[in-house]
Order: sequence, then C-alpha cells, then structure tokens
Amino acid sequence: MQPARAALVGIDPGGKPDFAESMAELGLLASSAGSEPVMTLIGKRAKPDPAYYMGSGKATELREQMDAHQADIAIFNHALSPVQQRNLERHLKRHVIDRTGLILDIFAQRAKSHVGKTQVELANVRYQVSRLVKAWSHLERQKGGIGMRGGPGETQMELDRRMLENKAKRLQAELAKLQKQQATQRRARERRDVFSVSLVGYTNAGKSTLFNALTKAGTYAADQLFATLDTTSRKIYLPEAGQAVLSDTVGFIRDLPHQLVEAFRATLDETVRADLLLHVVDASSFDRQQQMLEVDKVLAEIQADQSPQLIVVNKIDRVPALMARGPVLRYHRDGRPAAIYVSAKDGIGLDLLRETLAEIAKNTARMKPSEETSSVADFEQEVPVKRWESLDFYHSRTGVYSPHDA
Ligand code: GTP
Repeated sequence: MQPARAALVGIDPGGKPDFAESMAELGLLASSAGSEPVMTLIGKRAKPDPAYYMGSGKATELREQMDAHQADIAIFNHALSPVQQRNLERHLKRHVIDRTGLILDIFAQRAKSHVGKTQVELANVRYQVSRLVKAWSHLERQKGGIGMRGGPGETQMELDRRMLENKAKRLQAELAKLQKQQATQRRARERRDVFSVSLVGYTNAGKSTLFNALTKAGTYAADQLFATLDTTSRKIYLPEAGQAVLSDTVGFIRDLPHQLVEAFRATLDETVRADLLLHVVDASSFDRQQQMLEVDKVLAEIQADQSPQLIVVNKIDRVPALMARGPVLRYHRDGRPAAIYVSAKDGIGLDLLRETLAEIAKNTARMKPSEETSSVADFEQEVPVKRWESLDFYHSRTGVYSPHDA
C-alpha cells in the first residue's frame, strides 16, 4: 500500500524558540505513523482562528498547495478543536489530523502487549471524551425520545459520554488487574534483590539501540522477557556486581498528550520504581536541552523526578568534538556518576557504562534518597559545541566536574 502523502502545517505564534524543531519533529512523527511528508506550510498568527486555526485565506493557500503536491492528508502541529478539524476537512476536502491524534496513532500502531494495547485504547477513549465536550457544546439540548435510557432531556452528548466513560472504566479495571500482576513480578524481583535500571529519554534518543547493545553484548545476558510488561525488560550482567534488570520504556515527546501519560501510568510506574534511570540524550540534536526538560517534565508528572539519574549522552559519533574526546564519565561533586558519553550504535563507551552501572549498583543504598540526581544538563558546561554554550539554564547548577578532563 502506498503511504499517505502528508502536508505538514504549522502556525508560528511568534516567541516560541523551539518552533522549527517541533516542526522537524512533526515530520519524523508523520513518517513514524507511516505517511510520507511531501510539503510543509508555515503561517504566522498570534492567536488561532476559531474556525480554521489558520486564517481562511491561509486555508485556501493550503488547499492549493495540497492540490499541487497531491497531498492526501493535512497534519497540524497543534491541538485542533473538533470544530476546526471539521471545518478544515470540509475546506480542504481531505482528512485532517492534529498532533495529539498523530501521536495516539503511532502509539496504537506500536503497542504490542496486552497492557500496551489497553493503555492506548484508554488514552484514545479519554481523548474522545475531551473532544466530545467541545464537539457538542454548540448544540442545543435535545429532547429525549422513547426508549432513551437517560429519559427526557438527556442530550446525545451525555449518552455518548456515558458510553465512553463506561468504556474507560472497564479499561481502567482491566489495567488495574494487569498492574497487580506486574506488581507481583516486581516483588519477586525485589526479593531476588536485583538492581533495576530503566531507560528513559526523548523519542529517538537511542534507548532501544542502547538496550540492545547492552543486553546482547553481556556474557550473562539471559534472553528472558518479562512478557507482561509493556516495557521490555531483560537481565544484564554487570562486572563484579552480578545481575541487573534493564528496561526499555516508551519514548517521551514534547506536548505528550496528557491522556497518554495518564493511560501509560501502569508502564511508567515501573520506571518510578527503578533503582536508576538512564536518561538517554541525543548529543547531535540541537534541541537536546529542551528535550531533556520535556523528559524531566514527564518524570515529574509520574513522580519519578527524585529517582537517581545517570545521563547518557548518546550518538557522540555524530559530534566531532565529543568523538575526539571519546567516552568520558562525569561525576557529581560528591563522587556519584552524573553523565557518561557514548555511542550505542558504534559500541563506544559501553564498557565504561557497564562499569559505571556496576559501581552504582554496588553503592545503591548510598544513592537513595538523592539530592542532586535529577539535574538537567549541568554536565554540559565544558562541552565545546557552540549551541550548547548559548543556552544558559544549565549554568544554574555547577555541581559537576570530570576527573577525565583534569
Ligand atoms: P523511540 O522508540 O522513538 O523512543 O526511540 P529510541 O530512543 O528507542 O531510539 P532508537 O534506539 O530507536 O534510535 C533512534 C535512531 O537513532 C535510530 O536510527 C538509531 O540507529 C539511531 N542511533 C541510536 N544510537 C545511535 C548512536 O550512537 N549513533 C548514531 N549515529 N545513531 C544512533
């Protein structure tokens, strides 16, 4: 089947420094969802138009360009109201989807396990409920007919909503049951006293690549999957520290739909309970600072922001200055490892990472509770890459130095 030809649409409200990056990201998301971006239309507008989000003249320009590029679908880099979406679909004579819908679509395609599928379904139902309210708000109350369960006066919206909310309740109950099973497994693991590590990070940072590299290369890497976890978990062997469990988690993204964070709580709860979070960062992304903040935001939302973090600056092979220096480990002033520079793809720094994990595993008791583990990017101070220097928020913390640089 031919992939759908997509038009990417972004309206710049002005004053959003990450607008260009978020548009580039929309292209990646569109590809991940299986479409082929064939054109991009950017507009400028301080406030969204209630009818079309963009102005009607811009909407006509979009239709003409979509005709010229034979685009089948318009993907908006914003949250559209149901009315805007419907108006646009009529005007463009094509399917229109917004950022949240697109992300939900990708998650629906990717969810493999029962838990994952249930979570995505719940997110979808919640998304529908939130849109239902907006979609029906312009309609008058309708008279109830004979046989309508709610009796006279109940609106269609209320009926629809009740149906969806019942569905949400059912899904939630199912998730609670699955979560119970996970908790049993977790307790079994804790009884075995296995050090647990969760990979977190912005989408595309390289979590899965690192997960595969670490699990395949270990001599003791048993191929055992904790099948009911949506996160994939495997045992790894750490030098002198024995076994640990490494979990790959769902990727984070800016404007991650709230419904998704909520629905994925069962999976993300696993993250909260890990002894250590490996926060994977794409060193080659100009937007990495913002991406780290977005990850920390989600971690805060699921109360995992106090968990010990080791920042893994990945893809150093793509940044010549970092590549020239090779794999290094930076420490907090109190001696705990803070950040490590690796290339998961080329296997650079993985031995150092294993040794570091082993060191942390041995000192885990000392690591909790943590005081300064969740810092974003204070490790970057000495990295000689121009864009990194222009960002000032990471100067706010100075707790990191690297003996390797001395
Ligand atoms: P999500 O599943 O979206 O959360 O992504 P992820 O964080 O699991 O990233 P993934 O491992 O799928 O990698 C994303 C892309 O980056 C892939 O094309 C990888 O081949 C590439 N990649 C990962 N690690 C490295 C690296 O060290 N160097 C380079 N050059 N590319 C890498």
